[in-house]
Amino acid sequence: MSDELITRAARDIVKAKKVVALTGAGMSVESDIAPFRGKGGIWEKYDPVEYAYIDTLRTNPAKTWILLSEMQREILKAQPNPGHLSLAELERLGFLSSIITQNVDGLHHEAGSKNIIEFHGNHRQAYCMECRKPIKSEEISLETLPPHCDCGGVLRPDVVFFGEAIPHEALTQSDQETRSCDVMLVVGTSAEVQPAASLPGVARSSGATIIEINIEPTSFTGYTSTYFIKGKSGEVLPKITDIIKNQSANLTS
Ligand code: APR
Repeated sequence: MSDELITRAARDIVKAKKVVALTGAGMSVESDIAPFRGKGGIWEKYDPVEYAYIDTLRTNPAKTWILLSEMQREILKAQPNPGHLSLAELERLGFLSSIITQNVDGLHHEAGSKNIIEFHGNHRQAYCMECRKPIKSEEISLETLPPHCDCGGVLRPDVVFFGEAIPHEALTQSDQETRSCDVMLVVGTSAEVQPAASLPGVARSSGATIIEINIEPTSFTGYTSTYFIKGKSGEVLPKITDIIKNQSANLTS
């Protein structure tokens, strides 16, 4: 982990007018939530084409709920890690405007962040596909799959499945934040899934500095990213935040 780049990131954040973070599943690996791709990725175990497309949820919900129940168990017992807590602190200190997250685990909320755009929804909320009644995922029994509503309809988490549109509000808010920031932190994402993966390029073309934090390079690295900090988000983000807290006075010199 390069101390020089960490100091550079702290300086860029302090000097920025508006900082936005785009986060992916790598943010939550240190909270014991499996990523989708790479080592231990969910898609190594479940083929997303078979399990995570909206058509499967509609035609064979019992199958999709095999994947969903595994994700739900992990999410509901997970706690925010120092990476989530650092982004919440940067927001509290006035150095982070918003988080655009691809994650559905709700851990940015749990960490205390306020301005969060949930690009792919939130697995802690669910609703009935028949009567649309909302229900908290923690209230759903996973004894029999798929879980049903009192009305007899099948329940589903309030997340975006492959083949579904990104919520309109999330799209417009993310676009506004992306085009108006002068620093974008891109943390723990494989840069593989659109339209989220287009956001750093849009920010860059609007003149923003793109600071990528990941344990390994991605297709952003060396192209879209202005610079790449190799490391775990739960270690890099607290280091950046500590420098900002302790030295923000002389970082602006
Ligand atoms: N710190 C930082 N980065 C990490 C860490 C860590 N501790 N652990 C893993 N990573 C990185 C991996 O190197 C990888 O680049 O996090 C990334 C995880 O990639 P994905 O699992 O593809 O997650 P993400 O980019 O968020 O996926 C986007 O794909 O399947 C859909 O809807 C799903 O929101 C998800 C979307």
